[in-house]
Amino acid sequence: MEKLNGKRILITGASGGIGSNTAKLLVSGGATLFLTGRRMDALTALADALQVPSERVFAADLSDQDAVSALAGRVMETMGGLDILVHAAGIGIIKPMDQLTLEDFTRTLNANLISTFLLMKAFLPGMKQAGKGLVINIPGVLGKVPMAGAAAYSASKYGLTGMMQSIREELKRTEIRITNIFMGGVDSPFWDEIPLKVQREKMIRAEEAARAVWFLCQQPASGVVSEMVLQPFNHQAI
Ligand SMILES: NC(=O)c1ccc[n+]([C@@H]2O[C@H](COP(=O)([O-])OP(=O)(O)OC[C@H]3O[C@@H](n4cnc5c(N)ncnc54)[C@H](OP(=O)(O)O)[C@@H]3O)[C@@H](O)[C@H]2O)c1
Repeated sequence: MEKLNGKRILITGASGGIGSNTAKLLVSGGATLFLTGRRMDALTALADALQVPSERVFAADLSDQDAVSALAGRVMETMGGLDILVHAAGIGIIKPMDQLTLEDFTRTLNANLISTFLLMKAFLPGMKQAGKGLVINIPGVLGKVPMAGAAAYSASKYGLTGMMQSIREELKRTEIRITNIFMGGVDSPFWDEIPLKVQREKMIRAEEAARAVWFLCQQPASGVVSEMVLQPFNHQAI
């Protein structure tokens, strides 16, 4: 296992269920964290609990190019670069086509896909210069297997999967590793606004989902885990 100690890790979605739990695990292993999300109050509360200094906390809407540039500037200023990017930001709008609006669709693409594109544009050049790095994305199983009502969400997550696979091809001769995690349902605030009957008590716990990310952050650099599939035990779709 690679040591986390001293690893510079940016966590997006740090104010969310998977991101905040990942932050807790990584900081306990000695990683140097940079936390971002949209809600500054939630980020500040987490940073205080984990003793992450305020200069490494930054609120940004990742679908906004200027905000991502400002985030990248702050990351460079405070950490001088990045060893690992854990991209745990995203939204879920689950509606049948007769209710899904263009606004729902573009909002989903912006939050889940355009955000990833902007992050790659901002952070890949530094990783290329360093000749190494690790990018972990969480497309979820709906980035691999369709579900009724998930036209917008799956469009964003299939897009994310395809984009990252293509970028991986471009990076073949570098030591920049890309991992896509296909998780099934994780019990987190993600489900709070989704009008589906779901059994949250049967989902993966956010702490356990975070443990998978924590594990991936410690994989030796001589190999790459290209994909990980993590499903609730009684709900194995793929
Ligand atoms: N929960 C699941 O069942 C599940 C399953 C598979 C994959 N995933 C994926 O895993 C990731 C994390 O999910 P989660 O369960 O932790 O969800 P969550 O608890 O709802 O957290 C989502 C996080 O994303 C941030 N975010 C959303 N839109 C953003 C934007 N435009 N700019 C910047 N940050 C933004 C939120 O920030 P604020 O709260 O500060 O606004 C929050 O920190 C998402 O990509 C999701 O699609 C989730």
